[in-house]
Amino acid sequence: MLPIRVYPSLLACDFSRVGEEVARCEKGGADGMHLDVMDGHFVPNLTMGPDVAKAVRRCTKSTLDCHLMVTDPLAASRWFAEAGVDAITFHAEVASDGRIVADAIRDLGKKVGVSLNPDTPFSLIRPLLRSVDQVLVMTVFPGFGGQKFMESALPKIHEIRQAGFTGDVQVDGGINSETAVACAEAGANVFIAGTFVFMAADLGATIRALRESTKTAFLKGILQPPVAGTR
Ligand code: DX5
Ligand code: ZN
Repeated sequence: MLPIRVYPSLLACDFSRVGEEVARCEKGGADGMHLDVMDGHFVPNLTMGPDVAKAVRRCTKSTLDCHLMVTDPLAASRWFAEAGVDAITFHAEVASDGRIVADAIRDLGKKVGVSLNPDTPFSLIRPLLRSVDQVLVMTVFPGFGGQKFMESALPKIHEIRQAGFTGDVQVDGGINSETAVACAEAGANVFIAGTFVFMAADLGATIRALRESTKTAFLKGILQPPVAGTR
């Protein structure tokens, strides 16, 4: 079985003490941390540049999973690779040839991911499945933390697994104890959570509970796959 992983999204942390927040995630047993990079063009928000990623890298040896919500992933992937992240995910919507971007990230020595907005069909990335290590299914429209999970994204997760993809399927946006379980049943194994994890009274207990409940749900999804189109 694929490993279940929980990555807190640092977008929801207290940036005035980011080093302590990173330490809190590590102590709480996070499997890595998710960095949301927004350029004010692809999404209507600006977040962090490579210097912030570099600062986070100095605080931790954990996996840094970089989500590029930018219109120029070729340039940005070079900057963030240099900053020391471990995995770089670009959006399929911005790449006229996703394979070129995927190969460029691979050449930088990083794990490669491709992401899909809620209204982007799976067919756009089908030809890319062999070129990537992970697929990130957006379960909200990207741009802001704290949004409501979109259940309409669930069939897409199932479609990705039905197509035989055996890499990581990540979900991102509005993930909490209930929505994570629904995603796991559909075939997701990496759970990116911002608000839910950072607002929790006990971050470590929340991460552990998410990992346990999604593990059971992921197995259930393998044994009794949801029928496509029923969600
Ligand atoms: C949204 C980002 C997400 C976001 C998740 O554009 O890609 O990573 O921070 O935050 P929550 O868990 O609060 O929806
Ligand atoms: Zn993200």
